[in-house]
Amino acid sequence: MGARALAAVIKQVTGNMINGQPQAAHFDCYKYMAAFLFLTFTKEEISMIMRKGCFYIIAVLLIVSACSKSNSITAVTITPPPDTSLQKMMPFPMGASISVSLMQNNIKYNAVVTKEYNSITPENAMKFAALHTAQNTFNFTDADYLVNFALLNNNKRVHGHTLIWHQSLPSWVTNFAGDSAAWENLMKTHIQTVVAHFKGKLTSWDVVNEAFDDNGNLRNSIWLQKLGGDYIARCFQYAHEADPAALLFYNDYGHEYSAAKRTAISNMLTGFKTRGIPVDGTGLQFHTRYNQTDANILAAITAAAATGLKVHISELDIALNPDNIQGLTLTPALAQQQADKYKFIIKTYNSLPASQKYGITTWNVSDADSWIPGTYNRPDWPLPFDANYSRKPAYYGILEGVK
Ligand code: XIL
Repeated sequence: MGARALAAVIKQVTGNMINGQPQAAHFDCYKYMAAFLFLTFTKEEISMIMRKGCFYIIAVLLIVSACSKSNSITAVTITPPPDTSLQKMMPFPMGASISVSLMQNNIKYNAVVTKEYNSITPENAMKFAALHTAQNTFNFTDADYLVNFALLNNNKRVHGHTLIWHQSLPSWVTNFAGDSAAWENLMKTHIQTVVAHFKGKLTSWDVVNEAFDDNGNLRNSIWLQKLGGDYIARCFQYAHEADPAALLFYNDYGHEYSAAKRTAISNMLTGFKTRGIPVDGTGLQFHTRYNQTDANILAAITAAAATGLKVHISELDIALNPDNIQGLTLTPALAQQQADKYKFIIKTYNSLPASQKYGITTWNVSDADSWIPGTYNRPDWPLPFDANYSRKPAYYGILEGVK
């Protein structure tokens, strides 16, 4: 066996070792090995080395293997089978918030939603301003479209978002002149009309959204001003009356960066349980960032689980440009950091008891659809699919999180 043949054997064996895809750094190794043999030894010496057989071959393989570890320039990605989807791979429901116009007008978007998710949350179609356009007028067209898509064609769960929030209020509400009884009636009518409309079709609701500020005080919203702090408990009671089977969630953001806020939310929820207020779950929005610490993420998920309620990571996205750098571009290194953060969040969440894992919902599907670039006026890439609806490293990070 000559040096060339030996190099060929090495190439064959190590090529197999790395999933049938020999990589540039490995070919360099083979070349250097062969050159080294030719330059250092005479033909006779080389053939003597060859005769020593296995021992040398094994030694050479070990060296090449070490080279492959230290020099490898491309991470080995094991391509999952083409029919893989998040809904198949996750041991809990996996969802996304969905835009009605994208569902209706973008074929790629519609296909990814259909394939990947078994839970959907309307991004905007069930908000107050979308549904309840005048005091005596409700418009369910868009919301019904999504519910029908989910239930009739695709058997997906629908999570309603959101009944009472300080944003997305129509002007007839913000201008409403009435005493506290009239405000109570307005709030109750909204909740019960909407919940009754979707009764038996929706699995769950975000009943109240973002009622706390980051210091852990009740947000000074129009609802607090008109109705006092216990309005939140009454919202849950009204929703439960309208659909006793629906699971009811309190939803908020910032659990991972404000200990004061997550403590206040936990205190409210455990108080609700003690009082018999019908609450089933806590939603952690998790509009987070690639450099949020793992310790903070762990603390947020742990505190939520300690309430004993179901935990929904309800609006997950991971910003890569939290400092609003206008010229930032998406580098492989940033994409990998994002994948690592997705993996950590999914892994931490997956360690909760099965009965508490209500699911994980990302806030929309692809980077082209995310609310973040428009809202914060900056380039960003927060989601697991890129603007062409191809899977990003973040997608594989999610899969890794449940391995
Ligand atoms: C956002 C939507 O994504 C945007 O399209 C809309 O313009 C504003 O609201 N927290 C929530 C979501 O609970 O409802 C918000 O959704 C994002 C922050």
